[in-house]
Amino acid sequence: MNIHSNHDPKVLIPEVKIQARLKELARQINQDYQGTEVTAVCVLKGSFIFFCDLIRELEIPLTCEFLGVSSYGNEKVSSGEVKITLDINEPIEDKHVIIFEDIVDSGLTLNYIKNSLKSRNPASLRTCSLLLKPKSLKLPMEVDYVGFHIGEEFVVGYGIDYAQKYRGLPYLGYIQNEH
Ligand code: IMP
Ligand code: MG
Repeated sequence: MNIHSNHDPKVLIPEVKIQARLKELARQINQDYQGTEVTAVCVLKGSFIFFCDLIRELEIPLTCEFLGVSSYGNEKVSSGEVKITLDINEPIEDKHVIIFEDIVDSGLTLNYIKNSLKSRNPASLRTCSLLLKPKSLKLPMEVDYVGFHIGEEFVVGYGIDYAQKYRGLPYLGYIQNEH
């Protein structure tokens, strides 16, 4: 039985496409960081599945850190207010850090995280986001590795939620506005 029943999100990006793109991203990261030890920071909760799948394609020496942030509450629009709900538990000074995020929408969350980690003096700091909504950006933001550029639709699945639901969907779906 499917608990989502009548409200199953429509498919935006199917599972096979996600996996194929992850392999490309991983290939690029493997190339860029060849011989370098990396601290991979997973931004919880939305990035957890993306992170698990991607790091298994990486061939560089890696340590994993988890950073919890919350910015949306149960709303579909960013409050612009970012809170760190769980900090990483190792110093990143002089480390090569990559932040893994699920979606960059307004860019406020990733910008906040970047500034927070930058102040801890890593040797280098890059960002990787599964999804980027270029039209929604509210500040100039360069993301080093992007899985897919998408429109302004509200996305769920593959770790990403709406009001904490739909994270277990194997594909990236979207929810249409109710009229
Ligand atoms: P930003 O601060 O507006 O860039 O929003 C970033 C965070 O909001 C992401 O890390 C997501 O967790 C969440 N978010 C943005 N867009 C969506 C969406 O379409 N679906 C679900 N969560 C989203
Ligand atoms: Mg997020």
